[in-house]
Amino acid sequence: MSKYSNSALVLVLVCALAACGKSGSDASGGSTKEAAAGVCNLVSTKDNSPLAIKVVATDTPEAKEFLATCVNPYTKKYAADAEAAKAGRKVMTYNGCTGCHGGNLGGLMAPSLVKNGGTGAFDTKWVYEKNATDKGMFETIAGGTPGTSGGTMFVWHNQLPGKTGEGLPTDDILKAVAYIRTVYKGDGEKTWLK
Ligand code: HEC
Repeated sequence: MSKYSNSALVLVLVCALAACGKSGSDASGGSTKEAAAGVCNLVSTKDNSPLAIKVVATDTPEAKEFLATCVNPYTKKYAADAEAAKAGRKVMTYNGCTGCHGGNLGGLMAPSLVKNGGTGAFDTKWVYEKNATDKGMFETIAGGTPGTSGGTMFVWHNQLPGKTGEGLPTDDILKAVAYIRTVYKGDGEKTWLK
């Protein structure tokens, strides 16, 4: 009963804002459609400003899903299928991630991504706490970092200013994130498998 009257009220408010009463069906139809298509609001790890990453024609279904939901569809797939995870490893060797993070991602001139011990501040923990989520780690790789560990990582996403070389599409970054999840041995909870 109260549920019904609440939603009726919301409808009246939405109509007032969107001018539903006006003639012409395309105005209200269009806005309903846009509201239904979700958007993952990505922000920079450097300064929390919005990261302008859009869906492009060449995006894979996985990339489109992530940009709409903030969920990386590769993460659970790679966790269950070591053979599939090799595609993520390939992105990381091909683009030189292993040159800084180590061949086994155990750290070199850049922090370990395995987080399996040692005495350094970032040997078991993420430099950026938000990297415990796939959205956060995507933002860190896509838009670069402020240098908390002592070094900075540059911008990787091909749609962002200052990108490294040609940069990487959304799909490649998602594959790298999902692969990094498969090597994780840190002391944090594997929240990304929930
Ligand atoms: C030139 C060296 C270099 C390369 C190449 C590089 N990184 Fe990094 N990366 C860093 C440094 C340095 C940091 C730490 C940044 C900081 O403290 O702000 C970092 C941080 C990270 C982090 C966050 C680690 C944490 O503990 O929170 C991830 C994830 C990451 N890099 C993934 C990648 C991926 C994926 C690639 C390849 C596409 C890559 N990196 C290539 C230097 C590099």
